[in-house]
Amino acid sequence: MLEIAGINTYRGRAQILRQVSLSVGDKEAVVLVGRNGAGKTTTIDSIIGLLTLRSGKITFQGQDISGMPPYRRARLGIGYAPEDAGLFPDLTVSENFQICRWLAQKSGRAAQAAEIDERVYALFPEVRELSQRRGLYLSGGQKKMVAIARAMMLSPSILLLDEPFEGLAPVVVTRLIDAVRKIKEMKISLLIAESNLANAGRVSRRSAQGRREPGSDEHHPRLGGHHTQPHAKSGVGTSCVWCPRNFRSGCRIPICRRGR
Ligand SMILES: Nc1ncnc2c1ncn2[C@@H]1O[C@H](COP(=O)(O)OP(=O)(O)O)[C@@H](O)[C@H]1O
Ligand SMILES: [Mg+2]
Repeated sequence: MLEIAGINTYRGRAQILRQVSLSVGDKEAVVLVGRNGAGKTTTIDSIIGLLTLRSGKITFQGQDISGMPPYRRARLGIGYAPEDAGLFPDLTVSENFQICRWLAQKSGRAAQAAEIDERVYALFPEVRELSQRRGLYLSGGQKKMVAIARAMMLSPSILLLDEPFEGLAPVVVTRLIDAVRKIKEMKISLLIAESNLANAGRVSRRSAQGRREPGSDEHHPRLGGHHTQPHAKSGVGTSCVWCPRNFRSGCRIPICRRGR
């Protein structure tokens, strides 16, 4: 499904990822475990294309996506829920969903998307009541939930979830872990960045660990037979995942213009 082979990623002039390799199989859930600053977000952002690879290769369903812009990766069926949820604050929940529905249509996944709508509301019934609320006015837990639901609206083959449980009350974490387990049952592959080992164990039996080791260039084998060596250094910001123009000169996603 997803193969990451020896990627090196920089943020500005600082190298963050060194020779990171990992794979996620069909219908498999893998948790990328590492402390704060280990490079989990950098890994996820490299996969969705918000950061450019200096070298190495990312293959999705047999296709080399290493040089593809983020919106094309999304159209191939890579769903993404960022660490900060990344909701458009001025748009309502329902409008936030429309962005991924629009993408699903553009990528010929509309049929599955219609079906997935019902499944998403079955997963997150509470989201239905929030549909007219603006992203800005949601609680932390609601934002995380809506971000996952929005990614699901794309009818993805794989979901990238960056710290989906971070900063949430234990009862909300349990609620979200339950939802993630159900997503697994839907045969959607998952790659989850997680800094809490206990949570990692609750969602998957397989994990790839990232560790911060300044000054070392060695590659250490990790759980699951993978080599993951994210490095912690400084870097730069990110841009929009879904927009073909990356917000530079007028967005092509109709609803999106209002969200800026
Ligand atoms: N936008 C950024 N600007 C500068 N440095 C960054 C930025 N984002 C991340 N970094 C640095 O890159 C390293 C890896 O960060 P990150 O991938 O966010 O780790 P994690 O998600 O595992 O906490 C950290 O040391 C962090 O300081
Ligand atoms: Mg992170």
